[in-house]
Amino acid sequence: MMTRRVLVLHGPNLNMLGRREAAIYGDDTLDDINAALTSLARELQCELRFAQSNCEGALIDAIQKSFGWAEGILINPGAFTHYSYALRDAVADARIPTVEVHLSNIYAREAFRHTSVISPVATGQITGLGMDSYLLGLRAVRALLDRQ
Ligand code: DQA
Repeated sequence: MMTRRVLVLHGPNLNMLGRREAAIYGDDTLDDINAALTSLARELQCELRFAQSNCEGALIDAIQKSFGWAEGILINPGAFTHYSYALRDAVADARIPTVEVHLSNIYAREAFRHTSVISPVATGQITGLGMDSYLLGLRAVRALLDRQ
């Protein structure tokens, strides 16, 4: 199996996982999620680069810097999911398999969370499965790359 390079992006407030609204997002910290992704990546033969930012521009910069390196993107855009056309344009410009993930089920929450401006340019979306959204998301990116 060929090694594949995947950019993992976490949007705003996800650095606070573990303490932030644990009833919705669970007890796992971002480090726990990244550690679980790192061990799955070994099994799937993926090389990962991680970035988290509370700033829209920094997430866009991370995508642009990954051009030429990343073959796939796993992204939880946080609240930017719902309104960042700039982040959406960056994902569209990457033109590589991109899986959007959410810990919570965005369709079961407030109305403003029911719209994702990212999903029309993502390959697919996994929502509502807690940390498993990320783990299944990485499996999905790997499967998409295998299919190419
Ligand atoms: C989230 C859902 C978003 O609506 C919210 O703003 C987040 C986290 C999730 O993982 O469930 O920050 O993307």
